[in-house]
Amino acid sequence: MWPRLMRVRRSGRASGAVALRLLPTAADCKQCGQVRYTKPARTTAPRQTVGPLSNPLPHELVMHRVGVIGGDGIGPEVITFAVSALERAAPGAFEFDLLPYSSAYTAQHGRSLPAGEFARWRSAYDAILFGACGDPAYPGSSFGRDVLLGARTNLDLYANIRPLRSFDHRVSPLKSDENVDLVIVRENTEGAYVDQGAWTDKGTPQEQAHDTILATRSKTERVIRRAFELASSRLRREVCLVSKHNAIRYSHGLWREAFWHIAPEYPDISARELLADAAAMRFVQAPEAFDVVVCENFVGDILSDLGAALIGGLGLAPSANLGDGSLGLFEPVHGSAPDIAGTGHANPLAAILTAAMLAHHVGEHDAARRVSDAVYEVAKSGPKTPDLNGKSSTQAVTGAVLARLG
Ligand code: NAI
Ligand code: MG
Repeated sequence: MWPRLMRVRRSGRASGAVALRLLPTAADCKQCGQVRYTKPARTTAPRQTVGPLSNPLPHELVMHRVGVIGGDGIGPEVITFAVSALERAAPGAFEFDLLPYSSAYTAQHGRSLPAGEFARWRSAYDAILFGACGDPAYPGSSFGRDVLLGARTNLDLYANIRPLRSFDHRVSPLKSDENVDLVIVRENTEGAYVDQGAWTDKGTPQEQAHDTILATRSKTERVIRRAFELASSRLRREVCLVSKHNAIRYSHGLWREAFWHIAPEYPDISARELLADAAAMRFVQAPEAFDVVVCENFVGDILSDLGAALIGGLGLAPSANLGDGSLGLFEPVHGSAPDIAGTGHANPLAAILTAAMLAHHVGEHDAARRVSDAVYEVAKSGPKTPDLNGKSSTQAVTGAVLARLG
């Protein structure tokens, strides 16, 4: 495990020999194939700044610091190669800290993270790269809840950005003329995932369970605005709200009101809405009709996997968890895939595309574009893992991507 990351610094600052890179000031993302959001302003000062002080160039020279959590199952197997892709695409631009958290770590230490770890991440890192959680050897482990859901809430990473783009019609269950190029913006901190509810009278005829679906107006509005902002940088410029307000009247009703309250703020972006069940059907019938889709947590979770299936599966679906600060958490949409963990045949492309999103977020637009292009080329005409009807290994597919990165 971790064949590459073992060579990566585990902690501490880079030595004087580290490469420092210019952050581009202009973000021309039209060709990039990645989500085209702009990088939020830094909340902390750049860690390394060099250059002639007399020269007022509007550039910062920054080493991007990334905390890497492989996690469980195929997480470490694919994340190590995502790191390789970043190292190849932007040599010396990133410094990686390997963080040991996983279900096994939680079992061994009796806790998933040291106290104060999220606060440390805020000052130590520009991004977190996360593999996956879920290890059948540790049923009921709190690792995923503590670290992944914990990061989303503690760092207030309220927008889960999940782009889905067709790679190759041969791996899609769709008819060949349908092109998917959509982004799901999933609310990440509320909904049914707030872990509030009760399970009473267990073992009696009165046994009952309920979960709370939480929607706070301000938190709903901010993620809807994020979706409109994202749409304004895309060609199609449309946002579709997906909810089930006819049946889940209170929380989804609030979503609907918030959506139609905000939509007029963006007069040059089309707004529409669909009920979740109808949206699921339309995703299959006419996925090309969607541009940006905004929805609450649970609906977004389900639509994401459905959308991933349309482009060939979870092995091709990246994601970013973003808030208003500069620190983002980047993870493939898929889980730990215990059914294939350890076989050496997990598809690394989702994780590598996730790394491209990370590069884009920290301002390495050129590296992001090159990684993303390389992934698309390999998915079309390179070696494939079994999930894409190929026979190649994780390593062979990554090798093909790296070869295209020079
Ligand atoms: P999963 O996403 O791990 O796997 C679903 C199916 O897709 C499996 O057949 C798997 O082999 C395949 N698959 C997923 N990623 C793949 C890849 N990169 N290459 C090739 N095939 C891939 O979801 P599942 O099986 O429902 O859950 C497994 C564990 O993962 C559970 O413990 C679950 O709680 C956890 N999970 C974690 C997530 C995360 O870390 N964000 C998200 C979803 C599930
Ligand atoms: Mg999911």
